[in-house]
Amino acid sequence: LILILDFGSQVTQLIARRLREAGVYCEIHPFDRLDAGALAEKAPRGIILSGGPASVLDEGAPSAPEAIWGLGVPILGICYGQQTMVRQLGGQVAPHDIREFGRAQLTIGDAHPLFEGLAPVGGAEQVWMSHGDSVAELPEGFHVIALSPGAPYAAIADDARRFYAVQFHPEVHHTPCGARILRNFTHEICGLTGDWTMAAYRAEAVEKIRAQVGDAKVICGLSGGVDSSVAAVLIHEAIGDQLTCVFVDTGMMRMGEAEEVVTLFRDHYNIPLIAADESDRFLDALEGVTDPEKKRKIIGGLFIDVFDHHASATGGADFLAQGTLYPDVIESVSVSGGPSVTIKSHHNVGGLPERMKMKLVEPLRELFKDEVRALGRELGLPEAFVGRHPFPGPGLAIRCPGEITRDKLEILRKADAIYLDQIRKHGLYDDIWQAFAVLLPVKTVGVMGDGRTYEYVLALRAVTSVDGMTADYYPFPHDFLGETATRIIGEVKGVNRVVYDVTSKPPGTIEWE
Ligand code: XMP
Repeated sequence: LILILDFGSQVTQLIARRLREAGVYCEIHPFDRLDAGALAEKAPRGIILSGGPASVLDEGAPSAPEAIWGLGVPILGICYGQQTMVRQLGGQVAPHDIREFGRAQLTIGDAHPLFEGLAPVGGAEQVWMSHGDSVAELPEGFHVIALSPGAPYAAIADDARRFYAVQFHPEVHHTPCGARILRNFTHEICGLTGDWTMAAYRAEAVEKIRAQVGDAKVICGLSGGVDSSVAAVLIHEAIGDQLTCVFVDTGMMRMGEAEEVVTLFRDHYNIPLIAADESDRFLDALEGVTDPEKKRKIIGGLFIDVFDHHASATGGADFLAQGTLYPDVIESVSVSGGPSVTIKSHHNVGGLPERMKMKLVEPLRELFKDEVRALGRELGLPEAFVGRHPFPGPGLAIRCPGEITRDKLEILRKADAIYLDQIRKHGLYDDIWQAFAVLLPVKTVGVMGDGRTYEYVLALRAVTSVDGMTADYYPFPHDFLGETATRIIGEVKGVNRVVYDVTSKPPGTIEWE
């Protein structure tokens, strides 16, 4: 285990990504959450101090727990992590006249294990800098191992104590040698071998689930998405028929989705599954509702009721399984302080555990999205399932602005299926984070054959993204858009105009409601 102590940098998660790519298991914790006892218990093989937005010169500036210096394990400080290391160990940090941002040339000054595989001594590597303060005087025992024009202490080391620090960010893409530097830290310096694989994770996770659950019953809400599917298959491998899955068909799923989920789990995996067609209940409750937040609240509330009802039919379970991922878990170090604004009330099964007095099983808590996909493959889930685009809990309801009717949902389902079929046919599915159709509550005039038409407008959306937090519209070739529009208008009765959404996020959101 490598422990990453987070000082609030925007890119702390990238450190974890780079380590995992090198086959090293790591955990991110806020810098001030682990006391000496917790640190000793974790028994890390090395520690990384992340960057952060604060200045060590400010009063009350965050600092690393004093206990880490006495653990006898290698420590690597990055940017702010370097500055707090220097200050805490008796060196000096000073404000820099010029704030240094962006590309810099790093000159290697020492044949150091940290630089294994990089340019030779005297050679240069491109690195990414982003800092206001810099080191002015080294603590005792440290020496410079690399420098850049703006940073005479770009990389420093105390080889006796195995403390290292860099002013630049090795975790970002713009430091091409950075992944190697981090790998050198974990492999050459901490002595790890990089044997953390999905197969190892799977075996470990199965053992953990067994230990946690014992012979109790577990229920799992399946949404048809990757996360809950992978969680369910993994838990089933661990505890077999102690697991029951509940799939609620809200009537707002995509074409063929409900059948697919049932077939996969019931027939392919033989996992006990309650498939509840509750579409009438949901659609009746949504009748006449046009406000997006109201729609979300109604669906979220009803989902909990319905799930609770069907879950109780299993004879009472002690555990609820959820496909919570690592990015949802990391307690981010708040720098702005204030509460954030609610843009949308997200629908998930939150609130259920308290109400049903259940404990949680969350076997994906340590994984990033693409790692969940890798685990799904490891578990033999079909590729079509594993590579699926994310689908929101409220389903097509939030892709049908205005009032939702069965007729409109049917039109949307058909058009959406054609759009996705086109994307797959053109081999674009995996380049896109998410693609879907939106049926607008607007009718326009058209002409088909010799007649006048007055039908709905359909909007197409496709975005690229890394985590759904920011996104850019996907630049389809015009031919693709033209061909897709022609197919949709030709094959779907009720649509006579197709438009493409070219809004990024921000200022737009990915979904329309
Ligand atoms: P927005 O529209 O906020 O969406 O830019 C970001 C990502 O989140 C998905 N999304 C949801 N997922 N429950 C979910 O599980 C929800 O209520 C929900 N609303 C949006 C959206 O599809 C995109 O991937």
